[in-house]
Amino acid sequence: MRLLTAAVTTVALTLGAQVATAAPIEIKFSHVVAENTPKGQMAMRFKELVEERLDGKVTVSVFPNSQLFGDNKVLEAMLLGDVQMAAPSLSKFQKYTKQLQVFDLPFLFKDMEAVNKFQQSATGQELLTSLEKRGLVGLGYLHNGMKQLSAGEPMRTPEDAAGKKFRIMTSDVLQAQFEAVDAVPLKKPFSEVFTLLQTQAIDGQENTWSNIYSKKFHEVQPYITESNHGLLDYMVVTSAEFWKGLDADVRTEVKKALDEAIAYGNDISERKAMEDRQAIIDSGRSEVIQITDAERAKWVEAMKPVWKQFEDEIGADLIEAAAASNN
Ligand code: SIN
Repeated sequence: MRLLTAAVTTVALTLGAQVATAAPIEIKFSHVVAENTPKGQMAMRFKELVEERLDGKVTVSVFPNSQLFGDNKVLEAMLLGDVQMAAPSLSKFQKYTKQLQVFDLPFLFKDMEAVNKFQQSATGQELLTSLEKRGLVGLGYLHNGMKQLSAGEPMRTPEDAAGKKFRIMTSDVLQAQFEAVDAVPLKKPFSEVFTLLQTQAIDGQENTWSNIYSKKFHEVQPYITESNHGLLDYMVVTSAEFWKGLDADVRTEVKKALDEAIAYGNDISERKAMEDRQAIIDSGRSEVIQITDAERAKWVEAMKPVWKQFEDEIGADLIEAAAASNN
């Protein structure tokens, strides 16, 4: 009997020790922007919520500013298990699905309300699953906002852009958008943009107010046209292997924390855009150009044929559904 008690005690102690020393699950969250942006703030909030609620079972390490992976490598790294979460711009998924290209079409959404309406619709939610056959799970959309056009010279009409070199994200739609105004688009990682602008290797770029301000592009770009010509939003993604490997209760809690963090990021995104726009104006480093309705109509006329160009790849129904969100 004594022997049996001793054996039971040994087994219990061993199991206890295993439970006590079970290493926490680490979620590495890699992104390319600064911490004081909607994505940077969302990632930090996610870390706080997970670590507070999962009681040491899960930790989150956030790597901003392309510290861990640049935007063109992060999805490959995720499939290899080197990073567990990221929120690349919707423009950076074309290797994995053509459908998300819908978000890049120029002058598609009239404002962020329309964007939100589309993302939350049944069609928008269905797009979150568009990466599944490539081993990735879309967990939610995160806003940054509308893009503005910055350059070394004032950009008022499409003719001003002709012959100029613009950095773009890795998107064929964005390439076509600049080619439509006879400009020269160059696909480059976000981490290289400041230097390319500073050394005048390129003439301009398109980005949101918070990215322009946090990365100081306005200090090396004397003109920013408030064009609101396109969208820069994100999809928060993880790998199916990692996600399905989590215990169901852990997965539920992590998703809840993520949904709350995304709601927080989305809440601050519009305010942040307006604050950073004002900070750029106050800095006096860059002139913010307002275009007239007639000038804007010229950009729309030049760029809108891109919709037709990508209709077969994206799907006419999808484009129509996205455009309908403006009503
Ligand atoms: C980002 O907001 O994640 C980067 C955008 C860019 O590459 O311009």
